[in-house]
Amino acid sequence: MSAATGAMPWWYWNRFVLQRLREGVERELLGLDLPEETPLLEFGCGNKPYADMATRYGYCYEGADFKDNKHADIVIDEAGRVDCKDGTYPVVLSIQVLEHVPDPGAYLREVRRLLSDGGRLVLSTHGMWEYHPCPTDYWRWTLDGLEKLLIDNGFKVESKQGIVGLMAASVQLFQDSVRRRLPRGFRQVFVFLCQGIMSLLDRMQGTNSKNRNSMIYLLVASVER
Ligand SMILES: C[S@@+](CC[C@H](N)C(=O)[O-])C[C@H]1O[C@@H](n2cnc3c(N)ncnc32)[C@H](O)[C@@H]1O
Repeated sequence: MSAATGAMPWWYWNRFVLQRLREGVERELLGLDLPEETPLLEFGCGNKPYADMATRYGYCYEGADFKDNKHADIVIDEAGRVDCKDGTYPVVLSIQVLEHVPDPGAYLREVRRLLSDGGRLVLSTHGMWEYHPCPTDYWRWTLDGLEKLLIDNGFKVESKQGIVGLMAASVQLFQDSVRRRLPRGFRQVFVFLCQGIMSLLDRMQGTNSKNRNSMIYLLVASVER
């Protein structure tokens, strides 16, 4: 899943999830409470949907991605590494990348190498979502599984949360399984209704329940050497 930049139209097919994710990332970036001009690397930046937000909050933003991504400031090589010194960044942002990475452990160890002592990784990836290759789509997680993966690769988990619980998730998956079969004229209205129902249902779902089953998990993890 890739975050759209700018205002999303009312019929946008994953509007609710993207809004919730964006609010979560915003909360975490603000919560780090770091000095102005703190370097931040988005590792797997796509079209940089979080660049404006990070810059607005005083971070010095750079995006890394593969060489065919014209938005990338820093190129990730085929082995998943970047040509940057150890400990360059106090903050690394990884939003909706991990499910596309063939070896998540190797990816996290490269992030760990790039982080300075005490540096923080803000990470999100999918619990439940339809197949969406970019360029491939390998994994889905539980919060327990993600936490274990982070600990096994040298991180300490500082905070964790599920974004969009099971009730709303079931509507998103229902919407995505049928929307392309609908007549074009009805599709936008159908998506609009589904996204509205998701918003209502998600308000009824508690935090504990979202941590057990969620469309997206968002974690902050630190490194200490
Ligand atoms: C779904 S997009 C998300 C982009 C952006 N972070 C966002 O939230 O919109 C996934 C991104 O991960 C990148 N990616 C895929 N495999 C990767 C890997 N092994 N290492 C780093 N980035 C990777 C892709 O090139 C793509 O830009």
